[in-house]
Amino acid sequence: MRRPFVAGNWKMNTDSRSGVALAEAVAARTTGLAGQGVDVAVCPPFVYLKLVFDAVRNSRIAVGAQDVYFEPKGAFTGEISVAMLKDVGCTYVICGHSERRHVLGESDEIINKKVNAAISGGLLPILCVGELLEQRQGGLTEQVVTSQLKAGLANLSAEKLPAVTLAYEPVWAIGTGQTASPEQAQEVHSLIRRVLGGMYDGAAVEQMRILYGGSVKPSNAGSLMRQEDVDGLLVGGASLNADDFVEIIKAAA
Ligand code: PGA
Repeated sequence: MRRPFVAGNWKMNTDSRSGVALAEAVAARTTGLAGQGVDVAVCPPFVYLKLVFDAVRNSRIAVGAQDVYFEPKGAFTGEISVAMLKDVGCTYVICGHSERRHVLGESDEIINKKVNAAISGGLLPILCVGELLEQRQGGLTEQVVTSQLKAGLANLSAEKLPAVTLAYEPVWAIGTGQTASPEQAQEVHSLIRRVLGGMYDGAAVEQMRILYGGSVKPSNAGSLMRQEDVDGLLVGGASLNADDFVEIIKAAA
């Protein structure tokens, strides 16, 4: 059995006061729930990581970063290392989010370096893959997702695979209100597991969690979670509202 995992990606939202209040509200309302078979993480902007970590320190909620740089230290102005994220309490880090790929121009090669650096330094990467609308319309979903997956996990040994969480986030569903149907999500999630099965040992792949992301709301969380290969949710907009995020966590638990 794969334990459900719900992560909130706050993106470039909140401030120190509202971020702490949001984290505290989620922590308070999920006491007990986290122990009942669901893992929860929140991913605030870099500058609020420590504040949020302190706010959820006594809860079961973990903290993740939205990005990381792959070099350990040095002259990389503006970048943040794996060790720095560990130092402020991070457990997870999102790698290759579609906004980093398509707005900030991050390549598969860079994303792969981040995944490998994260694991080597003791962080758990959440590797995001997903097709653009025109790629889906052109029948390229399988090809795009397969190639992002293979490139993102390049040079990753089998022993390191259990550190990875995958997230399927169709770009056309992110922030648009247009969620993938449960069947569309399941189709790609099972493809992801099949592709992984060709790269790694089958038993290890069975244990891997594949999250769905893209306009997840309290109203669709349950039907998505009922799909066989949907093991959790990566939530953007709805994770900024404590009521909505807690409802989604409950649907996944
Ligand atoms: P959304 O974002 O829930 O606002 O669509 C999801 C994500 O980008 O992780």
